[in-house]
Formats: sequence, structure tokens, C-alpha cells
Amino acid sequence: MYLWIKALHVISVIAWMAALLYLPRLMVYHCEAQKGSELSETLKVMERRLLKAIMTPAMIASWVFGLWLVFGYVSFLGSSGWLHAKLALVLAMSAFHGVAVRWVKDFAADRNTRSQRYYRIANEVPTVLMIAVVILVVVKPF
Ligand code: HEM
Repeated sequence: MYLWIKALHVISVIAWMAALLYLPRLMVYHCEAQKGSELSETLKVMERRLLKAIMTPAMIASWVFGLWLVFGYVSFLGSSGWLHAKLALVLAMSAFHGVAVRWVKDFAADRNTRSQRYYRIANEVPTVLMIAVVILVVVKPF
């Protein structure tokens, strides 16, 4: 059962990361699109569907299976620092998710004022967090 839950956790996390890494990329292109243009309207649909159909459900599933592992198998208090550090970084990732929801709403309402450079840099945040999280949970360095 433990391995099945861990497998479902890793599958959910892969979907969440794919969406978190792809969404800012769409916004880099969206900054170039004329407001009201066909490209801008298409990107709005892509951003909304990516968020609602993949990113948010995958985040919820990652938390559900992750917490199931924490409270079912890997005791939170008993585990050494890797789990605490991992959860701190995953909370930061969830906060990034929350900010991205606001970006989607701003583009949908044609009120985005952030630059392409802003979204290029933002794109690196989930990448760095993901690398640190995977090292913490696989290597368990402390
Ligand atoms: C959303 C909240 C999360 C919670 C509560 C959580 C918790 C956990 C726990 C308790 C384990 C089992 C560790 C073990 O048995 O050794 C685990 C495994 C794992 N987690 Fe998470 N995790 C979360 C998010 C993430 C994220 C965002 C990533 C990647 C970016 C991730 C990647 C992994 C991987 C790769 C494993 C398998 C490690 C192994 O088998 O060696 N988790 N997680």
C-alpha cells in the first residue's frame, strides 16, 4: 500500500511540476501578443485549461498522497530534517502556485503589466525548488 501511495504521489508531482514549469513559459509569449488578438485569446484558453485541468488538481493530489505518506508511514516528528525542509520548500512552491493563479486572472482580464523578463525569471523559481525538493527526499542529506 505504501509503495502504491508513493507511486501516486510521484505521478501527481510530475504533473504538477510540468504545469508549473509550462505556465510561465506561456506568459512569456502572451506578453508579446496584442490585447484582443486571436493569439492572446488562444493563450488565455490554454492558460486557464492548464491551470484548472492539470495544475490545481495535480497540486491537490500531491498534497493528499504526500500527507498520506507523512501521517501513514513516515512520522513527521520522528523523521530527521529532510522532511521538514522539504515541506518548507513545498509550501513555497504552493505559494508560487497561488501567485500564478493571479497571473492567469490578470491576463484573462487584459490587465497584465509584467514584462517578458519577469516571467522568464519567474520560470526558474519552480525549477530551483524542484531540484532541492527531489534531492532532499531521495538523498535525505540530514
Ligand atoms: C505537496 C506536499 C508533499 C508532501 C507532504 C510530500 C511528502 C512525501 C513523503 C512523506 C514521501 C515518502 C518519503 C519516503 O518514504 O522516503 C515522499 C516521497 C517523494 N516525494 Fe514528496 N511530498 C510533497 C511534495 C513533493 C514535491 C513537490 C516533489 C517534487 C518536486 C516530491 C517528490 C517526491 C519524490 C520523488 C518521492 C519519492 C522518494 C523516494 O522514494 O526515494 N514531493 N513525499
